[in-house]
Amino acid sequence: MKRILVTGGAGFIGSSICMKLREKYPGYKIMAFDNLRRRGSELNLQDFKKMDIGFMHGDIRNKEDMDAVPEFDILVEASAEPSVLSGIDSDPSYIINNNLNGAIHCFNACLKNKARLIFLSTSRVYPVDVIENAEYVEEAMRYNFSPDQQQPGISKKGISEQLSLEGYRSFYGATKLASEMFIKEYAQFYGLQAAVTRFGVIAGPRQMGKSDQGIATLWMAKHYWKQPLKYIGYGGTGKQVRDILHVDDAVALVDMQIHQPEKFDGKVFNAGGGLISSASLMEMTGLCETISGNKISITPDTGQRPADLRIYITDNTKIENETGWKPVKKMNDIFSDIYSWISRNEKQLDAILK
Ligand SMILES: NC(=O)c1ccc[n+]([C@@H]2O[C@H](COP(=O)([O-])OP(=O)(O)OC[C@H]3O[C@@H](n4cnc5c(N)ncnc54)[C@H](O)[C@@H]3O)[C@@H](O)[C@H]2O)c1
Repeated sequence: MKRILVTGGAGFIGSSICMKLREKYPGYKIMAFDNLRRRGSELNLQDFKKMDIGFMHGDIRNKEDMDAVPEFDILVEASAEPSVLSGIDSDPSYIINNNLNGAIHCFNACLKNKARLIFLSTSRVYPVDVIENAEYVEEAMRYNFSPDQQQPGISKKGISEQLSLEGYRSFYGATKLASEMFIKEYAQFYGLQAAVTRFGVIAGPRQMGKSDQGIATLWMAKHYWKQPLKYIGYGGTGKQVRDILHVDDAVALVDMQIHQPEKFDGKVFNAGGGLISSASLMEMTGLCETISGNKISITPDTGQRPADLRIYITDNTKIENETGWKPVKKMNDIFSDIYSWISRNEKQLDAILK
């Protein structure tokens, strides 16, 4: 029996972790801790009740809230503000306090409970300019990394853990990298056992996509409700590319991290959909049109968003070789599952995604 605390447990990834673990391990105690700041997170509370998943309303920024949490063996930290634009288009104090100071309260709670930590970090720890300066090829529907690269850590397969960390990355990326650095200190000086994963874009049902975060849901929702979209940046061509990992594959990895600590503790891995599960915005449009049967107006917008990337693809070589984890679901599964989730919950989601 394990007692698992998921901070940010009512969010997209957190709630998926709670529910999948509950289905697979009926004897575990699972507790979601969340301040319900993200719009739509409250919709998960009814399912938590039905599934015997505990819920605690609290804020990781508040030490007293963390102190009130019942004892646990493993903390999965999934409560960061995940928008790359946060702090760039608003006062950065919020994201720094939430993602860094809040994370440190989580690390302290792990020490107090003698618990392990599973930390969901991000590909956004890698610097923008290093990735933007990579050699690329322009194809009819998308950009790709070119096979000839000068920079160690970039190849046609994507970005590996060897990439330089020198440069700016966004407040979001900086708070996550700083948290990773503090995890090292806690491991060295207090013996904190922690698994850290730098995830690329994750998508799937329960993601409350909006224009600055959650691209796959945003794209499908706009097709579903027949509303317009824009191809923003890179000349408005829609050729910029991301790899996307199905949330079920992310949860399968967290499950491994819970049960096979020897493979993960003290290490940092990249994990994502990889080249095979990558798509440009234009390619995502094609998928959404086929699945929804709707065609919408998408206009070019040549304005460039700060900290945007032409291409991000995860090179999964290290994690696949060292741990055996490998994504299973493909791009079509991701968009089909999002479509089914929206159509099953159309009324509830109308006010949030439309
Ligand atoms: N979604 C992705 O593509 C992605 C990729 C890489 C890493 N991550 C990481 O995964 C984690 C979860 O991301 P997500 O996509 O599920 O985001 P989300 O916004 O859906 O979930 C975050 C949850 O945390 C809650 N929360 C925010 N601040 C809190 C606080 N101070 N105290 C308690 N709860 C708080 C929110 O209400 C929300 O329910 C984040 O740490 C993020 O950095 C996400």
